[in-house]
Amino acid sequence: MSRDFTSRRAMGAIGSPVALITASHDGRNGIMTANMIAGLSFSPPLVGISLSHHSLTRTLIDSSGEFAVNVISPDQLNLAKNIGSTTGRRIDKFKEFSIGTFQGRSVSCPLVKEAHAVLECKVDRSIELDKHSLYVGLVVAYHDIKEASPLYLYHGNYYSIGDRLGSFWGIK
Ligand SMILES: Cc1cc2nc3c(=O)[nH]c(=O)nc-3n(C[C@H](O)[C@H](O)[C@H](O)COP(=O)(O)O)c2cc1C
Repeated sequence: MSRDFTSRRAMGAIGSPVALITASHDGRNGIMTANMIAGLSFSPPLVGISLSHHSLTRTLIDSSGEFAVNVISPDQLNLAKNIGSTTGRRIDKFKEFSIGTFQGRSVSCPLVKEAHAVLECKVDRSIELDKHSLYVGLVVAYHDIKEASPLYLYHGNYYSIGDRLGSFWGIK
């Protein structure tokens, strides 16, 4: 298919939060950085994450049917870069990057202590997208750890979010 745009440019225009996705199966833990991530529905609470077929973490989600979205702040930029540029197939990222974890309420994968919010999810359904799989996760538990702004990715650059402009809940 020929296009009059680059997909990198088009995807970059949307902008998205950066989070750490964790999963585990059979005693093996996985952690990866992801920005192809979005809230999809309030009721039921559904989130979507799109993961490459190459990722170890994705195979652990396939086997266990669960994952966690660990929302991070600009303070964790280097951690996000390190986790997103290495694979758990070669190193134990939890040890290598000294990642502190705690236990979930409803999922068995490790949750990241440094995150400011964590969503525990059970896979509701998945959709094959050629080189990625889109997982729709039902949020089964939520941890509000501390007040912080999310780390953001826009056109390939990292940002913290800027000024508060108003409230969504004011819409009538
Ligand atoms: C900022 C950033 C965002 C990323 N977003 C995604 C994503 O949304 N989906 C994906 O499959 N990989 C994404 N990656 C790449 C994975 O984190 C990377 O392939 C990782 O090595 C996979 O680790 P694993 O094999 O241990 O699961 C991203 C990397 C970075 C640095």
